[in-house]
Amino acid sequence: MAWLPFLCALVMGVAFVLYAHSTRRGKFAVWEELLDELELRGDERLLDLGCGRGAVLLAGARRVPEGRAVGVDLWRSADQTGNARSTTSRNAQAEGVQDRVELHTGDLRELPFGDGGFDVVLSSLAVHNIKDEEGRRRAVAEAVRVLRPGGRLVIADIGRSVSLYGGVLGASPVSGVGVRELGWRMWWGGPWMRTRMVTATRAAD
Ligand SMILES: C[S@@+](CC[C@H](N)C(=O)[O-])C[C@H]1O[C@@H](n2cnc3c(N)ncnc32)[C@H](O)[C@@H]1O
Repeated sequence: MAWLPFLCALVMGVAFVLYAHSTRRGKFAVWEELLDELELRGDERLLDLGCGRGAVLLAGARRVPEGRAVGVDLWRSADQTGNARSTTSRNAQAEGVQDRVELHTGDLRELPFGDGGFDVVLSSLAVHNIKDEEGRRRAVAEAVRVLRPGGRLVIADIGRSVSLYGGVLGASPVSGVGVRELGWRMWWGGPWMRTRMVTATRAAD
């Protein structure tokens, strides 16, 4: 049993490296690919739910030079270090996309937007932070509400929550609901904490 501490140290070391890679590089690389798959024209209105410091929001903004990239968040520092609207605003300036970025303080369960105003609604690792299931259901229903007919929804999140989102979407006015694994680049320490994605398209009214 003398090897047990070494095995534990090895597993913890690998988990640390995976986590650090996912945070610093993996998440960004995967989202670039997901945004590529959307084949944006460049004039869309995008909404990022729980945008935090702007990892996905700003990558989206770079792809819509004639459009708008809107981020909504409660800026909870418990969910992301250094989380603040002013930080995201500074990041948008640093990326040179501040002219098309709009930030709103608001709750995903009650979005401060009218119906059908967005071509694309994205969310990265945010909805699971709503602790109760009813709240997560409401957030997904709100995401559908603010999509225009034909608009696309992409939610990437951790763990079993994604099945819940798929269930909500199955009973919503959307088509083509799909769920897929996003792979080791978005494992948070190991395969026991991995990211999955659910996608759908808002049906015509
Ligand atoms: C883990 S961070 C992810 C941030 C960003 N999407 C990313 O991938 O880097 C989760 C974000 O969700 C936000 N959040 C959590 N619950 C929220 C709620 N009910 N309404 C709005 N934002 C919320 C937090 O403030 C935080 O910015």
